[in-house]
Amino acid sequence: QVVQLEIVPVAGRIGAEVRGIDLSEDLFPAVIQSIQEALLKYKVLFFRDQHQLDDEGQERFAKLLGELYAHPTVPVKDGTQAVLELDSAHGGRANAWHTDVTFVEAYPKASILRSVVIPPAGGDTVWANTAAAYEDLSPELKELSGSLRAIHSNAFDYAASAQQEAAREQTQRKNNAFVSTVYQTEHPVVRVHPETGERHLLLGQFVRRISGLRTADSDRIIDILQEHVTRLENTVRWRWAVGDVVVWDNRATQHYAINDYGDEHRVVRRVTIAGDIPIGIDG
Ligand code: SIN
Repeated sequence: QVVQLEIVPVAGRIGAEVRGIDLSEDLFPAVIQSIQEALLKYKVLFFRDQHQLDDEGQERFAKLLGELYAHPTVPVKDGTQAVLELDSAHGGRANAWHTDVTFVEAYPKASILRSVVIPPAGGDTVWANTAAAYEDLSPELKELSGSLRAIHSNAFDYAASAQQEAAREQTQRKNNAFVSTVYQTEHPVVRVHPETGERHLLLGQFVRRISGLRTADSDRIIDILQEHVTRLENTVRWRWAVGDVVVWDNRATQHYAINDYGDEHRVVRRVTIAGDIPIGIDG
């Protein structure tokens, strides 16, 4: 059975909208295969109007792409196996460039995000193509980054934001949960994608430092490489509507949720799929 999904690129280097599909229905294996192929090609897929999809449906769809991976420290939403709720009223504002959960050894290979409450304006999310970022590097920087490894950890100073919102007890509780168990791991700075063979810069919010370098040198090198990741040419920005579902290849992207909606409410729910241990250029 050959299934042709309608796939419309959203930006030049990353992201495509998939049309004419209801993710709450039983999907043929050929449809899943087409979605997986499109995901490898475009790295982020956008599905509009998935109003039939509830928490259970989101988990059911996720299972078609792999094994569910519950967040290691933040409790899952009640009544679900692996749904992480990000509620702006309780500190759920992911406004730092990151790849999900890179502080564990085998971090998730994909994430599926569903919008539940979206502010009237703002609250867009931006994704960046980390293979395009690597390809843009000079040969010298490619060689240097390919030889480096970085320490990733969830131990993060959330105190500042918690203090600002001291009245918001739930925010503090969420942040405390996030760091309740400290994870630390080392990954290559350049990851070879296990399915496409593409080379990706693997950095983001959870990176603490480059192994073996002095802090000042490590900070500068991270800044130089991260600037390549977030170049606007490598990004796609999505204006959410309620009912949208976005799937991204978490081995191939970073993302940033823009925090420009003040006290307006925003709720999204995320399910992640188990991944494998990253392999660098030298294996
Ligand atoms: C996330 O970082 O997984 C959530 C992104 C968002 O809130 O748009």
